[in-house]
Amino acid sequence: MTRFAITLFVATRFWAISALTVVSPRQTTDVHLAVAPNCGSLSGPPADINYGLKPLSSYSTIVAFGDSYTSGSTFNGSTLPLPILSPPDPNAGGRITNGALWVENLAAAANATLQDWAVNGSVVDHNMYLGINFTGIPDYLTQVQNYIGARPSSVVEETLYVVFMGMGDYELRSDIYQGPESLTTLASDIIYSILELNSNPVFAKNFMIVDNYGRGTESDAGDAYKASLFSQLYEVSNDLDYDLSFAFVDFKTLWDGVLNGAPGDTKRRRYEAFGYTNPGACLSNDISLTGQCEDPDHTFYWIPGNPSAATHAIMAEYVQEVLTQCVT
Ligand SMILES: *[C@@H]1O[C@H](CO)[C@@H](O)[C@H](O)[C@H]1NC(C)=O
Ligand SMILES: *[C@@H]1O[C@H](CO)[C@@H](O)[C@H](O)[C@H]1NC(C)=O
Ligand SMILES: *[C@@H]1O[C@H](CO)[C@@H](O)[C@H](O)[C@H]1NC(C)=O
Ligand SMILES: *[C@@H]1O[C@H](CO)[C@@H](O)[C@H](O)[C@H]1NC(C)=O
Repeated sequence: MTRFAITLFVATRFWAISALTVVSPRQTTDVHLAVAPNCGSLSGPPADINYGLKPLSSYSTIVAFGDSYTSGSTFNGSTLPLPILSPPDPNAGGRITNGALWVENLAAAANATLQDWAVNGSVVDHNMYLGINFTGIPDYLTQVQNYIGARPSSVVEETLYVVFMGMGDYELRSDIYQGPESLTTLASDIIYSILELNSNPVFAKNFMIVDNYGRGTESDAGDAYKASLFSQLYEVSNDLDYDLSFAFVDFKTLWDGVLNGAPGDTKRRRYEAFGYTNPGACLSNDISLTGQCEDPDHTFYWIPGNPSAATHAIMAEYVQEVLTQCVT
């Protein structure tokens, strides 16, 4: 018994010290990353990877596909409205958050122009949902076709393509007409679209595939989706027919760190290590600012399930750490 207690004490101390060493040296009142990326290997289970992407500053254009996490409300790659709140509208320039998106922070860090095609409420392929009306909500496959059709100018070698899908499909998985197991079909659709972008006429070379399917929760069907996405990227990297570089970014580490804590660390409120005062949402919906929380700058979500601007900022920092630390 005594021995167990000592081991636990040492483990707790170790955790505290190792957590301290990765905290960025800013004021403790700021929200900051309190986890390091989970770097892995392409042949292993899904993990953070940089397979050949150059330093972020090498990219002058970022083309983004995705859902509400990545959408600046203009679905055609043109300049986004300013990311500022105009009460009583709770959406900063149409974004489902109270400020700049993670991908805008990333573009700013790269000094790159953002071409944003992401759409709030988007799924990978709306044809998989027979019972849902997606009118006015282009799915991911349509976002990519719209991009290929318009093809705004950018230098291929200096263009980074971001694909951040999966959360909407995971949430609606019971409505997929062949059931949640066909989430893996959607993973194949994403890979197919990447290979299409890699081909004539776009010849895209640089991709960032981002996942956060369960937003701090997990299941076999979700893990199968992520594993399928990751293993197909490994296959592509081994196929001499394709010449592409990519990163895989798994926000699970960040979400788990804030919401779930480390194993054996259940008593400590982990979100406080990030500088959050609240792991919940500031608003109850994206329709009204009524009942806004007192401390939006230290609240994890803006509305339930959608990050606050403070969270979008550390998401961009996490991505940058993956790019520099997880080179494989
Ligand atoms: C893109 O969409 C915005 C907002 O809907 C619109 O104002 C703009 O004209 C569109 N741009 C292009 C190039 O289609
Ligand atoms: C950012 O890019 C612009 C042109 O796109 C350039 O004028 C400026 O010097 C760059 N800034 C930095 C910090 O690299
Ligand atoms: C975003 O999409 C969700 C899901 O389709 C929808 O419920 C919500 O009203 C949308 N919000 C805005 C501001 O468009
Ligand atoms: C789907 O929704 C749109 C408007 O959002 C509506 O015009 C259309 O009739 C709906 N389609 C079906 C089949 O319900």
